[in-house]
Amino acid sequence: MIIDERYLTFMNSFAEGNTEFLENLEADAIANYVPIIRKDMQNFLKVFLQMKQPKRILEVGAAIGFSSVLMATYNPVDCTIDTIENYDKRIPIAKKNIEDAGFSDVITLHHGDAAEILPTLEGPYDFIFMDAAKGQYPVFYPMLKALTKPGTVMITDNVLQDGDIIESHFVVTRRNRTIYKRMRDFLYEAGHDSDFSSTILPVGDGISLLVRK
Ligand SMILES: C[S@@+](CC[C@H](N)C(=O)[O-])C[C@H]1O[C@@H](n2cnc3c(N)ncnc32)[C@H](O)[C@@H]1O
Repeated sequence: MIIDERYLTFMNSFAEGNTEFLENLEADAIANYVPIIRKDMQNFLKVFLQMKQPKRILEVGAAIGFSSVLMATYNPVDCTIDTIENYDKRIPIAKKNIEDAGFSDVITLHHGDAAEILPTLEGPYDFIFMDAAKGQYPVFYPMLKALTKPGTVMITDNVLQDGDIIESHFVVTRRNRTIYKRMRDFLYEAGHDSDFSSTILPVGDGISLLVRK
């Protein structure tokens, strides 16, 4: 938790809530330990969609389809969403959720490793949401960049790793050391890429927000 839970509860208490379908889907995800975007990130995305009104959206990391259904629900313009998931067990669940939400014609679920699928996609996208294996962000970044155009927004979730990313190398486990190092590499690369304006915001688990110049 990068923001004191009391502040988060306070801030979230002013949000209007989601559709009944999304509320149920969120409860289902939490009950089954499926990681999905947090409440403050949901609220941020909804406002962002109103501002940007993206027609072509790409998501890396579908899980059971919660965030793609949220984007399809709250984007005020007609859009298409390509979302990628590699965990076999989640594919039929995501597919069913997308169908039940009535968005089969809006959301295309790609089954496989994003590193293999991304080069096969045709850009440019208006909005890219990266929410998959944190250690692979430096690998995905150039592939995603190839799918942008001036004005494309790229948001990457979980970049502050519950605050652990700033901890000393010596107090984190070996596995997390590798993930945090790769995350820092990604943040450095994205932050120093002169093709983008960028910032990091303490929303959800920390997001990186990039806009292609
Ligand atoms: C945090 S969850 C996504 C949550 C989803 N965006 C939501 O909020 O509803 C991350 C997902 O990325 C998937 N994933 C991880 N590495 C991947 C890869 N290399 N290619 C495709 N999917 C991947 C995981 O299986 C997991 O379901």
